[in-house]
Amino acid sequence: MTKELIEFITRRKNELNALVVSHFYQLPEIQEVADFVGDSLQLARQAAETDAQVVVYCGVHFMAESAKILSPNKTILLPEVNAGCPMADMATGEALRAKKAEHPNSVVVSYVNTSAEVKAETDICCTSSNAVSIVKSIPLDKEIIFVPDQNLGSYIENQTGRKMIMWEGYCPIHNNLTVDEVMEQKRLHPEAKIVVHPEVPESVAHIADVVSSTSGILDYVKNSSDKEFIIGTEVGFLYTLSQHCPDKTFYIARPEFTCQDMKVITLERLANALDKLEHQIEVPEDIRKKAYDSLDRMLKIT
Ligand code: 13P
Ligand code: SF4
Repeated sequence: MTKELIEFITRRKNELNALVVSHFYQLPEIQEVADFVGDSLQLARQAAETDAQVVVYCGVHFMAESAKILSPNKTILLPEVNAGCPMADMATGEALRAKKAEHPNSVVVSYVNTSAEVKAETDICCTSSNAVSIVKSIPLDKEIIFVPDQNLGSYIENQTGRKMIMWEGYCPIHNNLTVDEVMEQKRLHPEAKIVVHPEVPESVAHIADVVSSTSGILDYVKNSSDKEFIIGTEVGFLYTLSQHCPDKTFYIARPEFTCQDMKVITLERLANALDKLEHQIEVPEDIRKKAYDSLDRMLKIT
């Protein structure tokens, strides 16, 4: 069955001249069939740069929506329309408008893990790979409202020495990681380096050897002379790391480190997406134009 599905996906991709992209947190079989696997910044760039007319996003809704914002004339597909991001749902356009009214001279920096409506109220977007550079690019006399991840926000504050007005959002998956869980892994694997995503709580980031976006973690691990790593991010990423570094050993920082929304994209759903051109992502033009500016400013800086 898997073999037939993969054959169908390959044939349909060729017929449509479609590009299939996958986030690092996707199931191994999805990463295998994808033309490109990357972090959210790299996936956003793919949308802006590819010649393909049909692009299938194996990831969550905000990733496909960002692609549609950047490339309105392309057909952008999300194989499962309910693949969301609970953190992105913690900020709405309406709530952000209210926050901006309290701080009228502020600059809004939003993580790409937000809806198009929030991006439309945003001055500049960021991802975990470029968040520090984006914040550094904002004049020092400006207040910054940072949306929605308070853990990524604290990490940026520590890196830049700049205080920001913080939205009280978080990733329910990364935010669950505790210092005790990480230290238990360290006890079991004393030689392993602790490497975490900036969405983890500040207390955990504090004890880590490296805090970085997924692509940053991949680069670090590839170039490191160390052989063992405790990984504090979504479990799908361990597959990517093992593929790139088969001679190194990776331990997940907590047993249940799974983003269920990332796992709803299956080979069956990908095949269906290519077969029926489902589910097409659309963004109302007035919102898209404003959201475009916030993404475009980010892409011009990093
Ligand atoms: P990256 O920006 O590192 O790809 O992370 C996206 C994400 O959703 C992390 O939970
Ligand atoms: Fe959203 Fe967290 Fe899942 Fe990333 S891991 S998509 S931030 S819920």
